[in-house]
Amino acid sequence: MRWAAPGASAMQLALVLPLLLAVGGPLRLGAALEPISVGIAIGAASALTGYLSSPRFYCAFVECCPQEQDRPNATALKLSLDEKLFGQHLAKEVILKAITGFVNNPNPKKPLTLSLHGWAGTGKNFVSQIVAENIHRAGLKSKYVHLFLATLHFPHDHQVQLYKDQLQKWIRGNVTACARSVFIFDEMDKLHPGLIDAIKPFLDYYEQIDGISYRRAIFIFLSNAGGDLITKVTLDFWKSGRAREEIQLKDLEPVLSIGVFNNKNSGLWHSSLIDRNLIDYFVPFLPLEYKHVKMCIRAEIKSRGNSVDESVVQKVADEMTFFPKDVRIYSDKGCKTVQTKVDFF
Ligand SMILES: *[C@@H]1O[C@H](CO)[C@@H](O)[C@H](O)[C@H]1NC(C)=O
Ligand SMILES: *[C@@H]1O[C@H](CO)[C@@H](O)[C@H](O)[C@H]1NC(C)=O
Repeated sequence: MRWAAPGASAMQLALVLPLLLAVGGPLRLGAALEPISVGIAIGAASALTGYLSSPRFYCAFVECCPQEQDRPNATALKLSLDEKLFGQHLAKEVILKAITGFVNNPNPKKPLTLSLHGWAGTGKNFVSQIVAENIHRAGLKSKYVHLFLATLHFPHDHQVQLYKDQLQKWIRGNVTACARSVFIFDEMDKLHPGLIDAIKPFLDYYEQIDGISYRRAIFIFLSNAGGDLITKVTLDFWKSGRAREEIQLKDLEPVLSIGVFNNKNSGLWHSSLIDRNLIDYFVPFLPLEYKHVKMCIRAEIKSRGNSVDESVVQKVADEMTFFPKDVRIYSDKGCKTVQTKVDFF
């Protein structure tokens, strides 16, 4: 075939043929093979194959590391937080501000590091999941999102040195593969003291370490440590008749950073991450009240595609236990057991 451009693939030929017939349809085939229409047809075909082999097309099917121009959707992040997180005005505000600011900063000076604190069931896991989903569509299932559980990944105290080496290797490897990797450390309070300091070099203000920049990565620490301090402040507000929403970050952030620094079981005890101010935000999760538990229950029922029956909501909420003993305003387990309790009803 005379008109086949050198190097044209079988695919291009297959695409060119119908085009050629369409262009040259009414004419005799011999006349149709004039150079201009052949040129157009080949051009169109290569544009198409160009698109088919472009990252945009490829990444619609295979997960790709987000590029500079892929900005997470701030509206969607806010919507998710509004829909799934209850009673946490501070966490909502801080997370939204921190994530949006970080991903829109063309030149961050260090990776984003968030430390989430509060009792179980207050929404820390939800928030890390929402953040992960906002950065990587597949969320926790993404190959660029890494979840570490202290009791699962780093269980033995005598192997701390091994874990430190491993952790450094993993973070280096994963950030090399994708600059916008997300690392989530759950159960920080069960982490061996000192282990987390192994990642300090990556969290610092270095442009590069051995040719790799860690400045676009996100590190999230989850911890029950500080829950008691947060509860105390929240309870004090309640006792003095002030609205929970009046609590500001400045009422809690310093208390938290000092509290976990001095707490042997916080995973951040005497940690150089705090010493060197490498944690960008301490995010407090307040203990949840009866009305917040009800919100969780309604959301859970809706997420199963059922319509909300208030008598069921009431029944599930009444199954929960509340503290402190004298006033009983905060749910012991936050919203943690809501799911299984909804199953039951
Ligand atoms: C961002 O998310 C909102 C809410 O989900 C959606 O309406 C909007 O189209 C999204 N914007 C982009 C650019 O994807
Ligand atoms: C990335 O981290 C995971 C742990 O989440 C680890 O198993 C894997 O080996 C790391 N990848 C690289 C290339 O280091």
